Amino acid sequence: MNEFLNKLSTIVGSTHIQTTGDLTKYEEDWRKRARGKALAVISPGTTREVSLLVKACLEERVSIVPQGGNTSMVVGSIPNDSGTQILLSMQRMNKVRAIDAANLTMTVESGSVLQQVQQSAEKAGFLFPLSLGSQGSCTIGGNLSTNAGGTQVVRYGNARDLCLGLEVVSANGEIWNGLSGLRKDNTGYDLKNLYVGSEGTLGIITAATLKLYPLPAAKLTAWAGVQSIEQAVELLGLAHKMLGPALSGFEVMGQFALSLVDKHFPQMKVPLWKENPYCILLEASDNESESHARTLFEGLMQKAIEAGVITDAVIAESLAQAKALWLIRENITMAQAAQGLNIKHDISIPVSQIPPFVMHTDALITQKIEGVRIVNFGHLGDGNLHYNVQAPQGIDPKIFLQTYEHDINALVYDSVMKFGGSISAEHGVGSLKVNSLKDYKDPTALSIMRSIKQALDPHNIMNPGRVINAL
Ligand code: FAD
Ligand code: MLT
Ligand code: ZN
Repeated sequence: MNEFLNKLSTIVGSTHIQTTGDLTKYEEDWRKRARGKALAVISPGTTREVSLLVKACLEERVSIVPQGGNTSMVVGSIPNDSGTQILLSMQRMNKVRAIDAANLTMTVESGSVLQQVQQSAEKAGFLFPLSLGSQGSCTIGGNLSTNAGGTQVVRYGNARDLCLGLEVVSANGEIWNGLSGLRKDNTGYDLKNLYVGSEGTLGIITAATLKLYPLPAAKLTAWAGVQSIEQAVELLGLAHKMLGPALSGFEVMGQFALSLVDKHFPQMKVPLWKENPYCILLEASDNESESHARTLFEGLMQKAIEAGVITDAVIAESLAQAKALWLIRENITMAQAAQGLNIKHDISIPVSQIPPFVMHTDALITQKIEGVRIVNFGHLGDGNLHYNVQAPQGIDPKIFLQTYEHDINALVYDSVMKFGGSISAEHGVGSLKVNSLKDYKDPTALSIMRSIKQALDPHNIMNPGRVINAL
């Protein structure tokens, strides 16, 4: 094996291959649900190096786990514990290759951190709208490989919708240059959309051409309290009607989720949570002016109060206030992590079916486990809930997970199916949901997926065991 590692070392240079020392940041998943052991952590600097690495690994039938920021929520980006896999860290490949202002596109390498891509776009006078709580560390390659969603999907779509072209190293080490900035191209199968969302199981994304948008003239943020999930959905309807395409964010946060932020980050001063079962964070991105946006927003809040849809609302008066409100929303994940392990879900349901889904599923779970706490929050604007289940007070979260995770997943996923939803909205499948996918995905779709995997990665060297069991 030393000979093999020497070969890889000559490809990337000896300083970019690690086999010893503390490799925790590569080998442990963000939620601390699993820890693996890599044969080596390798950090290529160019697409050619990635291609040579894949060819060398294929020759020896050594499997590869691509990794960006290692912020996966579904244990998708760490090696297994065999000590035989190569962890391919893409973080050194982080250059902006080009910005085409007239075409409204930018081409970046896949290890570029999302926040840096947003900043580079802004420096050039544009908006790259993908926004996630993990944007300080997740990468464009990871975002595209998981087809990430986040908080702006209601207006701009998910990562897939923001990508026009890809450069990919295939599972046999060939380089596909598909970095097209075209918005129309009907020349056969859509390879880009095959790799987007494939979670590193078909090849390695090395660069992407992304869509840019004009920077909005103004962004406004508001926070409203509602008495029920039905009213949250009613407010969404009103917001669509009164803000039209200006509606760029619509997040729902349940009372228990906000109580965790209040408990673990008391400095954040969460508004309205004590007196409302749900709070809503709304954002409008206006192409005219701040006063135009404010007039629209105030009109919406006025109407919603008159109609009894919301109990109260605050509209941020400054950028700092808006940021503080967003920080509360983004820190629900950190507050949950501080509280201990929980049974995490990332489901999508047609917006119209969210109230009956929540009523039905809340009742089943609370009947099953006395004192259980539901951490319900998410991207209501696009029908995506993080419907998480936390242990009753005083119960060890680890024991709670061991005892209930399987049954609670089955209960929630059965309910998701009943209301026409999906068991993974934006986080992907990773390792955590491979078995569930077998039960909840259409068998014909699974069989087609398996055929694609076998055709594109016949030796199963690309992130094996994730998304589907190929063999
Ligand atoms: P990684 O975690 O490193 O990898 C994810 C998957 O992509 C793995 O299967 C990996 O093998 C594969 N992969 C990575 N890079 C490549 C590549 N270049 N080529 C091929 N395969 C690759 N997700 C959302 O969708 N919406 C959210 O709002 C959101 N918020 C989050 C908030 C927090 C605090 C955290 C910790 C996570 C959040 N996530 C969210 C989940 C996560 O950040 C996303 O899934 C993100 O897209 C992963 O990017 P990454 O670079 O960290 O990828
Ligand atoms: C979010 O919406 O905050 C993310 O998807 C992370 C999470 O689900 O905890
Ligand atoms: Zn989310």
